[in-house]
Amino acid sequence: ESPKHNTEEKLEKVCHLLDQEISYFNWTGFYFKNGDKEELKLGPYVGAPTDHTIIPYGKGICGQVAVSNETFVVPDVHEESNYLSCSIDTKAEIVVPIFKDGKNIGQIDIDSHTINPFTDEDRELLEWLCNEVSKIL
Ligand code: SME
Repeated sequence: ESPKHNTEEKLEKVCHLLDQEISYFNWTGFYFKNGDKEELKLGPYVGAPTDHTIIPYGKGICGQVAVSNETFVVPDVHEESNYLSCSIDTKAEIVVPIFKDGKNIGQIDIDSHTINPFTDEDRELLEWLCNEVSKIL
């Protein structure tokens, strides 16, 4: 079993745990920088399949976080002009960057079917989690 495979399995487990434990997390997945390209590539996720498997830096909430290096909490996606819709059921989104050796190498992305669901605790949990995840990358 290759180390890469092992890492992907762990990330998938993280997605499943979050999906199971928090009722208003309705799509949970990872995006990572795609090699040397200025784009994100979809990694392990739990939820409905998405068309957005590649996202250029700057595009959508995910692409903006790739550039800003900051957590982006969107209480209501309909208020955002630079947003990529994956599902008509999605009402809110949170994206938290993942840093390795000080570089923004990816992110966790969570969609919710509930408006304004994300608490400060969710944000803190996800920022802690991204820090933990970066240790296995
Ligand atoms: N909504 C995201 C695209 C990814 S899907 O939510 C899985 C965005 O605007 O970047």
